[in-house]
Amino acid sequence: MDLDAALGLIAEVPDFPEPGVLFRDLSPLFASGEGFRAVTDALAATVPPDVDLLAAVEARGFMLAAAVGYARGLGVVLVRKPGKLPSVAGRVDYALEYGTAALELPENVVAPDSRVAVVDDVLATGGTVQAACRLLEEAGAVVSGVSVVLELAALSGRSVLDGRPVHSLRVV
Ligand code: PRP
Ligand code: HPA
Repeated sequence: MDLDAALGLIAEVPDFPEPGVLFRDLSPLFASGEGFRAVTDALAATVPPDVDLLAAVEARGFMLAAAVGYARGLGVVLVRKPGKLPSVAGRVDYALEYGTAALELPENVVAPDSRVAVVDDVLATGGTVQAACRLLEEAGAVVSGVSVVLELAALSGRSVLDGRPVHSLRVV
Protein backbone atom coordinates (compact mmCIF):
# COMPACT_ATOMS: atom_id res chain seq x y z
CA MET A 1 0.00 0.00 0.00
CA ASP A 2 1.36 3.44 -0.80
CA LEU A 3 1.53 6.23 1.75
CA ASP A 4 -1.42 8.15 0.28
CA ALA A 5 -3.66 5.13 0.55
CA ALA A 6 -2.44 4.44 4.08
CA LEU A 7 -3.16 8.00 5.20
CA GLY A 8 -6.54 7.73 3.51
CA LEU A 9 -7.48 5.16 6.15
CA ILE A 10 -7.59 7.89 8.81
CA ALA A 11 -11.24 8.53 9.70
CA GLU A 12 -12.84 11.89 10.48
CA VAL A 13 -15.24 11.91 13.41
CA PRO A 14 -17.27 15.09 14.00
CA ASP A 15 -17.97 16.28 17.54
CA PHE A 16 -15.54 14.01 19.35
CA PRO A 17 -14.53 14.18 22.15
CA GLU A 18 -16.72 17.25 22.44
CA PRO A 19 -18.98 19.33 20.16
CA GLY A 20 -17.13 21.31 17.52
CA VAL A 21 -14.01 19.12 17.43
CA LEU A 22 -13.34 17.16 14.22
CA PHE A 23 -11.41 14.16 15.54
CA ARG A 24 -8.99 12.32 13.26
CA ASP A 25 -9.17 8.66 14.24
CA LEU A 26 -6.07 6.65 13.30
CA SER A 27 -7.58 3.36 14.49
CA PRO A 28 -8.32 2.02 10.96
CA LEU A 29 -4.77 2.90 9.88
CA PHE A 30 -3.24 1.18 12.91
CA ALA A 31 -5.40 -1.89 12.25
CA SER A 32 -4.19 -2.26 8.66
CA GLY A 33 -0.97 -4.26 8.35
CA GLU A 34 -0.08 -2.68 5.01
CA GLY A 35 -1.12 0.78 6.13
CA PHE A 36 0.82 0.58 9.37
CA ARG A 37 3.91 -0.61 7.53
CA ALA A 38 3.67 2.20 4.93
CA VAL A 39 3.34 4.83 7.65
CA THR A 40 6.11 3.30 9.76
CA ASP A 41 8.51 3.26 6.80
CA ALA A 42 7.67 6.87 5.88
CA LEU A 43 8.00 8.05 9.48
CA ALA A 44 11.30 6.17 9.90
CA ALA A 45 12.67 8.04 6.86
CA THR A 46 11.97 11.39 8.56
CA VAL A 47 14.12 10.63 11.62
CA PRO A 48 17.48 12.42 11.23
CA PRO A 49 20.50 10.13 10.70
CA ASP A 50 22.43 11.33 13.75
CA VAL A 51 19.73 10.51 16.31
CA ASP A 52 20.69 8.48 19.41
CA LEU A 53 17.24 7.80 20.80
CA LEU A 54 13.52 8.15 20.04
CA ALA A 55 11.06 9.68 22.50
CA ALA A 56 7.52 8.32 22.35
CA VAL A 57 4.50 10.19 23.68
CA GLU A 58 1.85 8.12 25.48
CA ALA A 59 -0.23 6.46 24.19
CA ARG A 60 -0.45 6.34 20.41
CA GLY A 61 3.10 7.60 20.05
CA PHE A 62 4.28 4.42 21.78
CA MET A 63 3.29 2.08 18.98
CA LEU A 64 4.62 4.33 16.24
CA ALA A 65 7.94 4.93 18.00
CA ALA A 66 8.34 1.22 18.73
CA ALA A 67 7.90 0.37 15.05
CA VAL A 68 10.16 3.22 13.90
CA GLY A 69 12.76 2.27 16.51
CA TYR A 70 12.79 -1.30 15.22
CA ALA A 71 13.08 -0.09 11.63
CA ARG A 72 15.94 2.27 12.44
CA GLY A 73 17.69 0.23 15.14
CA LEU A 74 16.98 2.88 17.79
CA GLY A 75 15.79 2.60 21.37
CA VAL A 76 12.79 4.45 22.76
CA VAL A 77 12.24 6.50 25.91
CA LEU A 78 8.59 6.49 26.98
CA VAL A 79 7.26 9.95 27.86
CA ARG A 80 4.41 9.07 30.17
CA LYS A 81 1.21 10.42 31.65
CA PRO A 82 1.53 11.07 35.40
CA GLY A 83 1.64 8.35 38.03
CA LYS A 84 3.16 5.62 35.85
CA LEU A 85 6.86 6.06 36.55
CA PRO A 86 8.56 5.10 39.82
CA SER A 87 11.22 7.77 39.40
CA VAL A 88 10.88 10.89 37.26
CA ALA A 89 13.43 13.28 35.81
CA GLY A 90 10.77 15.95 35.38
CA ARG A 91 7.12 16.80 34.84
CA VAL A 92 5.47 19.38 32.55
CA ASP A 93 1.80 20.44 32.74
CA TYR A 94 0.23 21.77 29.54
CA ALA A 95 -3.04 22.66 27.78
CA LEU A 96 -4.69 20.43 25.17
CA GLU A 97 -7.22 21.22 22.42
CA TYR A 98 -9.72 19.79 24.89
CA GLY A 99 -8.63 19.97 28.55
CA THR A 100 -5.30 19.85 30.34
CA ALA A 101 -2.66 17.18 30.75
CA ALA A 102 0.81 16.44 32.09
CA LEU A 103 3.76 14.34 31.00
CA GLU A 104 6.68 12.85 32.88
CA LEU A 105 10.11 11.63 31.78
CA PRO A 106 11.76 8.63 33.47
CA GLU A 107 14.89 9.38 35.46
CA ASN A 108 18.33 8.22 34.28
CA VAL A 109 17.27 7.19 30.77
CA VAL A 110 18.12 10.21 28.62
CA ALA A 111 21.85 10.91 28.57
CA PRO A 112 22.90 14.59 28.63
CA ASP A 113 23.80 15.85 25.14
CA SER A 114 22.04 12.92 23.46
CA ARG A 115 20.19 13.66 20.23
CA VAL A 116 16.55 12.67 20.44
CA ALA A 117 13.71 12.56 17.90
CA VAL A 118 10.16 12.82 19.23
CA VAL A 119 7.54 10.56 17.63
CA ASP A 120 3.76 10.96 17.94
CA ASP A 121 0.66 10.39 15.85
CA VAL A 122 -0.97 13.83 15.72
CA LEU A 123 0.37 17.38 16.09
CA ALA A 124 -2.63 19.53 17.02
CA THR A 125 -2.04 22.52 19.35
CA GLY A 126 1.51 21.27 19.83
CA GLY A 127 1.14 21.29 23.61
CA THR A 128 1.94 17.60 23.96
CA VAL A 129 5.03 17.57 21.77
CA GLN A 130 6.21 20.87 23.24
CA ALA A 131 5.92 19.35 26.74
CA ALA A 132 7.92 16.31 25.61
CA CYS A 133 10.59 18.55 24.06
CA ARG A 134 10.84 20.62 27.24
CA LEU A 135 11.26 17.49 29.37
CA LEU A 136 14.00 16.18 27.09
CA GLU A 137 15.79 19.52 26.95
CA GLU A 138 15.58 19.96 30.73
CA ALA A 139 17.30 16.56 30.95
CA GLY A 140 20.12 17.97 28.78
CA ALA A 141 19.15 16.32 25.49
CA VAL A 142 18.93 18.02 22.10
CA VAL A 143 15.69 17.54 20.14
CA SER A 144 16.91 16.81 16.61
CA GLY A 145 13.45 16.48 15.13
CA VAL A 146 9.77 15.83 15.66
CA SER A 147 8.06 13.22 13.47
CA VAL A 148 4.28 12.91 13.31
CA VAL A 149 1.81 11.21 11.02
CA LEU A 150 -0.73 14.03 10.89
CA GLU A 151 -0.45 17.78 11.50
CA LEU A 152 -3.62 19.80 12.04
CA ALA A 153 -2.58 23.13 10.50
CA ALA A 154 -5.51 25.10 11.89
CA LEU A 155 -4.27 24.48 15.43
CA SER A 156 -0.79 25.91 14.66
CA GLY A 157 1.14 23.31 16.65
CA ARG A 158 4.29 23.93 14.64
CA SER A 159 4.40 27.54 15.85
CA VAL A 160 4.79 26.59 19.53
CA LEU A 161 7.73 24.31 18.75
CA ASP A 162 10.07 27.29 18.35
CA GLY A 163 11.82 26.17 15.19
CA ARG A 164 12.49 22.58 16.24
CA PRO A 165 12.37 20.64 12.93
CA VAL A 166 8.92 19.12 12.36
CA HIS A 167 8.29 16.33 9.85
CA SER A 168 4.63 15.55 9.14
CA LEU A 169 3.56 12.84 6.74
CA ARG A 170 0.38 14.81 6.05
CA VAL A 171 -0.78 18.33 6.90
CA VAL A 172 -4.55 18.91 6.92
C1 PRP B 1 -3.33 13.10 21.44
C2 PRP B 1 -2.35 12.77 20.36
C3 PRP B 1 -1.19 13.69 20.64
C4 PRP B 1 -1.88 14.91 21.21
C5 PRP B 1 -1.95 16.00 20.19
O1 PRP B 1 -2.99 12.47 22.63
O2 PRP B 1 -1.97 11.39 20.42
O3 PRP B 1 -0.29 13.16 21.62
O4 PRP B 1 -3.21 14.52 21.59
O5 PRP B 1 -2.57 17.15 20.69
P1 PRP B 1 -1.82 18.52 20.96
O6 PRP B 1 -0.88 18.78 19.82
O7 PRP B 1 -2.94 19.51 21.01
O8 PRP B 1 -1.11 18.44 22.26
P2 PRP B 1 -4.04 12.09 23.77
O9 PRP B 1 -3.32 12.29 25.06
O10 PRP B 1 -5.33 12.80 23.55
O11 PRP B 1 -4.40 10.58 23.53
P3 PRP B 1 -3.68 9.16 23.56
O12 PRP B 1 -3.33 8.86 24.97
O13 PRP B 1 -4.73 8.28 22.99
O14 PRP B 1 -2.45 9.19 22.66
N1 HPA C 1 -7.02 13.03 16.55
C1 HPA C 1 -6.18 12.40 17.37
N2 HPA C 1 -5.59 13.00 18.36
C2 HPA C 1 -5.79 14.29 18.54
C3 HPA C 1 -6.63 15.01 17.72
C4 HPA C 1 -7.28 14.36 16.67
O1 HPA C 1 -8.03 14.95 15.89
N3 HPA C 1 -6.63 16.29 18.16
C5 HPA C 1 -5.79 16.33 19.22
N4 HPA C 1 -5.29 15.13 19.45
